[in-house]
This record gives sequence, structure tokens and C-alpha cells, in this order.
Amino acid sequence: MSSLQHVNPTVRGIRVSPQSVLQSLAVRISQEVTQGVPKPFKQVIDVSSGDPHKSGLKPMSFLRQVLAVCVYPELLNNEGLSLDVRLRAQRLLEACDGGSVGSYGQSSGVPHVKQSIVEFISRRDAGVSSNTEHIFISPGSQVALRIIVILLARGEEETQSAVLTPMPCPHTLPMLVEEAGVKLVPYHLIEEQGWAVDLDELHRALKAARGRYEPRAMYISNPGNPTGHVQDRKSIEEVIQFAAAERLLLLVDEVYQDSVYGPDKEFISYKKVLSEMNSEYSETVELISFHSLSSTCMGECGLRAGYMEMVNMDPEVKHTVYNMRSAHAPVTGQLALELMINPPTPGEPSYDKYTQEILLIQATLSQNARRAWQFLNDLPWMSCQPAMGGIYLYPRLHLPSELIEQAKMLGMEADVLYCQKLLEEEGVCLGAGSENGQDDQRYHVRLCVLAPPATVEEVLARLRTFHLRLLDRFP
Ligand SMILES: Cc1ncc(COP(=O)(O)O)c(C=O)c1O
Repeated sequence: MSSLQHVNPTVRGIRVSPQSVLQSLAVRISQEVTQGVPKPFKQVIDVSSGDPHKSGLKPMSFLRQVLAVCVYPELLNNEGLSLDVRLRAQRLLEACDGGSVGSYGQSSGVPHVKQSIVEFISRRDAGVSSNTEHIFISPGSQVALRIIVILLARGEEETQSAVLTPMPCPHTLPMLVEEAGVKLVPYHLIEEQGWAVDLDELHRALKAARGRYEPRAMYISNPGNPTGHVQDRKSIEEVIQFAAAERLLLLVDEVYQDSVYGPDKEFISYKKVLSEMNSEYSETVELISFHSLSSTCMGECGLRAGYMEMVNMDPEVKHTVYNMRSAHAPVTGQLALELMINPPTPGEPSYDKYTQEILLIQATLSQNARRAWQFLNDLPWMSCQPAMGGIYLYPRLHLPSELIEQAKMLGMEADVLYCQKLLEEEGVCLGAGSENGQDDQRYHVRLCVLAPPATVEEVLARLRTFHLRLLDRFP
């Protein structure tokens, strides 16, 4: 009997995602390895979600050095640390209430950090202005998104609020939306066109939802999670025009803006494109952009900080958000966020090392993505669109009908069964595509490639062994 069959998919009425079930299984198998239970592998490797430091990537020295001084100000006098590190720490401490990271600070964020964020946005968007009153700092971008989705659920209409959501979408999103009491309305990205956003499909999805639900927002992930697509200016303009015509709030997850590596691809923010459209759009379309310290290059997921920038939003919504004290980000996380968006500049002692570290992470990611894409496409029963940005590959499994039937009999999705067998037989934990939302009979797996190259190689080798063995079982 399969291991997952023992796990109830609901616990006290709360749905448990296949991802948490797979991760619990991964933890249990790891414990068995530690206890000496014989396995064909020495270690479980979990690449199902993006957690760069867990995967073995190193933190940025500058960020950690400044943070260390902020947490332990005695280090301000330590000449072993470079002068720019100590000066920056001093400046950040001055920005904290009482000069200490131990104070509460304001609920929408430390004002100095918010000021750095608006300066960063203006630099990034080549002069498009930003305003600290539109910035809200939260303990991670997911918390900010959750707040907005909860507010959407509180519409005055009797019909249930809905949010248009790409399929596939980030694996954490369906549950976040469901828990807030909002209906998820899927619009499908076009896999064969590199997971493109398609205007006809947006109209189809909206039409199907209207009448039954009240669609109030549209969620976009750009660069795409888990698809790795990157939208160009034209595609972004089309989405903005659609949102304007249909009076939808745009929720734009731009967390992976620091990792675009596809040839001739660049990150262009929704805010920049919107600001350059005529006033019919630029002054009316409501847009919220999310960014996070969990981004590719920093990967500081555990320090918990992110922010959202609200454009053209009703002041009352902003007021409500600012008063949510539960959304208070830790001060250490906020300072780390400041260091992410305001790195050392040329001429400062830490600049060269910082630049080298960033370039190394970006090169590692793009080489891993290319290597894994070629490798996966060489496997039978598998096809994979190339990633242009972000940290995932999302290959499609062309599974034999026998395996699909077997999964049905076990009451599971076939991709979940595939991931479970892979985990049990080869000790590799991938994300099951059904978690990201997928068409019937289109099965995918999710693979984070932001990890040391040796880890990615090991994952690919074990995956190949398992995949070919499975092929033998179902000739
Ligand atoms: C699409 C997406 N948004 C946001 C995040 C980061 O969330 P947070 O800032 O809450 O750590 C991730 C990280 O995995 C993500 O994949």
C-alpha cells in the first residue's frame, strides 16, 4: 500500500495540500536515513519549492555583515569590518525607534526603509516616481497578498468575490485564495507558446465567471512561477487594457524581478508600463506590485520581509491595510530589505565583493536552468518549455494511461503518485503540478533550479534513473 494512502488529506476539516503531504513524507524518509534504514540514497533532496539557503546557496556577505552589526551594535567599533558596513549599520540603527532593532517601529514599516524603497523603484523604473504613502512593508509578500485578498472577500455585493488566477500558478496561491473565502477563477497560460498570457483566454475566463461570481481582481506572476515566462511590454499593456475595460484590480507578483536570464528578455515592471500609457489608464487602473526579501539573489526567506506598492488605490483601502498590526514585519527583516534594494555602490569598499556574489548567483541560476531544460527534454515522456526567468522549471509528464488509472484507483492525481514514487525510490522531492493547477490529463512537476550545480546534477541523475525505470514498468 502506498505511503500517502495513510495520510488523511484533511485534518480536522482543514484541507492538507499534496505538497505538505509530500514534504512530510520527505521528512520521514530523511529520519529513516538518519536512523540507518537501508535506502538506495544517502540523503533526501527537496527541490519542490524555492528556499535557496536551504538548498545550500550562501547569503550575501554585505547584507549579513550589516545586519550583524545592527543586532549587536558593539561591532560598530570592530575595525575588522569595512567602513561602509559600519556606517550603513549606524545609519540603519538611527532609523530604528530607540536606535535598536528590538523596538516595534511603525506598523506600515520603518520610514527610512520606505524611503529607500521608493528611491529603488524610481531607479529601477528610470525616473517613474513613487511615494512612501503607497508602500506597505509586511512580513513577506505572501502576507501582503493575503491581506488584499481578504479585503476583496469583504465586497458589498452578495455574490462571492473572485480573482482571475493563471493556471499554472504559484503552488501556495490556491489555498491562500480559498482560505480568504474568494473564488479562484482560472485563466490558462498557453504552454506551447512558452506559457504566454492570452487575451482571448482572459475574456473566456471572465465570461465564464461573471454572473456566478464577482471577479474583482486578476493575479499575475511575472517572471512566472512556476512557468519561468517573462512578459514583454506588449503583453503587459494588453493585460492593463483588459483590467481597465473590466475594472479589475491587478495583483502583480514581481518577486523574481532580479532573475531574468532568457536571451533578449528583460524585466519591465507593470508600474513602469502603466505610467507610460495614456492617462485613461495611468490614472485609473488599480495596481498592486509585490516584492520580497525572499527574491532570487537574496533568498532571505527566513528573515520575513517584503513590500507592496499600491498604485491608484482607494485611500480607504490603504488606511485599512496600514492599520493591520498583524502584518507587522520584523525590524531585522525590514533592515535586510533596505540592504537588498540599496546595495553598495561603485567606490565603496564592499562593492566588488557584493557584485561578484550577485553575478555568481545569477550565473548559477541561468546555467542550471539551461542544463536542466536540455536534460529534461532528452528524457522520453517528458517535455519542458525553456525558462526565461524565475527559479523553476515546469516540465510536462506524458504519463502512460496505466499509471493514470493506478493513481485514480488510489484516489490520487497521477503527478502526485509520480512524485511520491520518485521520493520513495530515489529520495528526490519535486513539486506535483496539480498543486499549481493544471488542465485535466496534463501532468507536470515543479523543480526549483536555484541550488548549487552539484545538487541539480544529482537531482537530474536520480530523476532519470527513476523515470526510465518507470518507463520499463509500463512499456
Ligand atoms: C510567486 C511567489 N511570490 C512570493 C514569494 C515569496 O513569498 P514571501 O515574500 O512571503 O517569502 C514566493 C516565494 O516562494 C513566490 O514563489
